[in-house]
Amino acid sequence: MAHILVTGGAGYIGSHACKALKQAGYTPVVYDNLITGWKDAVKFGPFEQGDLNDRARLDQVFAKYQPTAVMHFAALSQVGEAMSQPGRYWANNVGGSLNLIEASVAADVRDFVFSSTCATYGEHDNVVLDENTPQLPLNAYGASKRAVEDILTDFEAAHGLRSVVFRYFNVAGADPEAEVGEFHRPETHLVPLVLDAINGKRDSLTIFGTDYDTPDGTCIRDYVHVCDLVDAHVLGLKWLQDGKGSRVFNLGTGTGFSVREVMDKAAVVTGKDVPCNTGARRAGDCTKLVSGSTRAASELGWEPTRSTLETMIHDAWKWHKTGHYEA
Ligand code: UFG
Repeated sequence: MAHILVTGGAGYIGSHACKALKQAGYTPVVYDNLITGWKDAVKFGPFEQGDLNDRARLDQVFAKYQPTAVMHFAALSQVGEAMSQPGRYWANNVGGSLNLIEASVAADVRDFVFSSTCATYGEHDNVVLDENTPQLPLNAYGASKRAVEDILTDFEAAHGLRSVVFRYFNVAGADPEAEVGEFHRPETHLVPLVLDAINGKRDSLTIFGTDYDTPDGTCIRDYVHVCDLVDAHVLGLKWLQDGKGSRVFNLGTGTGFSVREVMDKAAVVTGKDVPCNTGARRAGDCTKLVSGSTRAASELGWEPTRSTLETMIHDAWKWHKTGHYEA
């Protein structure tokens, strides 16, 4: 079975990707430094602990498994942290990715699937966000991801590296079998925070800003189920293996929900109130991020099946109740 090198495979999205890869007949080899990932989340293939900035270790892992492709999830991904500590984002997300891309080319692995983000678009009033929208990120996180996209373009021209770049909208939900799920420390993402507030793990949820130019004043995001998202990655891998060449795809459903709508749906799904208070806007947040592209559906054949707000919260709640990884 073909080995696929999965960086960040011990993290939230990477661990779900490993499950999808295994189900599709691949062997995912997880490469993760465990700074934000969880060893307990590595369940679907071999594990190699290592840092993206450790080139010797990367070379060793490429030599050991001879992967046919790389799926690159490993990254720091908190918008707030990126605003206060941009250097870490440039060093880890850009420097680390460059190192990985160079190691990949050196090992003659030229199929590369990359996790990018809609945060690369930044704020665009009344503009449909598709893959051709100018990338004007508002924060260092988005800027770091855009920079890696540029590196991939240059490495294609110079070294024939082929990439599928996925620009994620807001990923939510969990494996419906609850083998893996979402768990960050510290947690900053809306859905797990709402569930923490519901079950008393935190006092309440703070809504970051109620004065945005949206119908209820809270930010709007396009939420996509993590299982649908990783299914697209398997399709992206096949796309490359079929020789179809480099391509960028938005991964969102095209439907936006406000922070209040997410809270209200969580209350319905769980049957419990969401204790909440209102606070100031969070630095780096865009008012509205919703995909306006159907490219992934029309070209990759991507068909999201679990990305309703109800199913995402239902699956996240199931995972939330069945347990978390060990510290
Ligand atoms: N929010 C709150 N209170 C909280 C946490 C979040 O009101 O305690 C709000 C945010 O302000 C935002 C929305 O909920 O309006 C979603 O916030 P998340 O932190 O869950 O997600 P972001 O939209 O900030 O960012 C996420 C990922 C990024 C990715 C981005 C793409 O963290 O990695 O989606 O939109 F780039």
